[in-house]
Amino acid sequence: MGIEFSDWHGLAAIYIENDFAKAAVALHGGHVLSYTPKGSKDLLWISGKSSFTNGKAIRGGIPVCWPWFGGAGQPAHGLARISNWIQTGHSETAEGETVLNLAFIPGFMDYAFLLANLKITVGKSLTVELKTSNNGEDDYQLSEALHTYFAVSEIEKVSVSGMDGTPFTNSLNQTECVQCGDITFTEETDRIYHTGKASRIIDPGFGRSILIEKTGSESTVVWNPWIEKSKRMSDFGDEEYHGMLCVETANAQKGTLLLKAGASHCLTAKITEIKD
Ligand code: BG6
Repeated sequence: MGIEFSDWHGLAAIYIENDFAKAAVALHGGHVLSYTPKGSKDLLWISGKSSFTNGKAIRGGIPVCWPWFGGAGQPAHGLARISNWIQTGHSETAEGETVLNLAFIPGFMDYAFLLANLKITVGKSLTVELKTSNNGEDDYQLSEALHTYFAVSEIEKVSVSGMDGTPFTNSLNQTECVQCGDITFTEETDRIYHTGKASRIIDPGFGRSILIEKTGSESTVVWNPWIEKSKRMSDFGDEEYHGMLCVETANAQKGTLLLKAGASHCLTAKITEIKD
């Protein structure tokens, strides 16, 4: 019980265990690798083909895409997920949940005026709060994501509720659409939903739903690479798309924020398992 420093495939990692759950977090990327509520399976997914190497993104868990999302800058999805973070503290709440604090300042001079603070609370829910501070003299266009890879029983049998009537951009062909009913999966899916609302992964095969609540987020990215894209990715098994689904708590594309000089912004995702 408590907090233990060890390694995860050679990367420095912090293991947390309390009355509610177990979790693991790598300092590389400030990356939540695993979150398993007591008596349950891991809610997060990691590829068997992922690299666990400094300077490379981990395929799975919760990559922190920061201080930009996707191709808004280079490298894709930002600097944070391929860089080392530092641990700045840990504590326990009155309820016995464990809180871990991490921080990252980009070593690149161009972005050194930005500071990322991550607060990870492991309890009945997993709560990840990403705070961005703009300590520079100019405003900054911030895009970001808690790019969460969820474990699912079979992608063709799960659905995502909470998006009915929500406008989205289909990133595969840059068309603007509106969601009708729940999201289901029968092909490659890469969409940015323009919403600040919660969503829920409904997974009868695992006998559970996963509720994803959020604050400070105007976008939800929903991604599954399906057959051809899985084959093109070297750190992703050809058949692994069956068992994963990304529902990303984000500010991306139309949700990009103007972070004023001297201001800060918090993006929070709260992930809760609900058993059937
Ligand atoms: C998603 C994007 O957030 O991340 C997809 O919407 C992208 O377009 C996916 O393919 C994975 O990105 P990466 O850089 O980790 O391969």
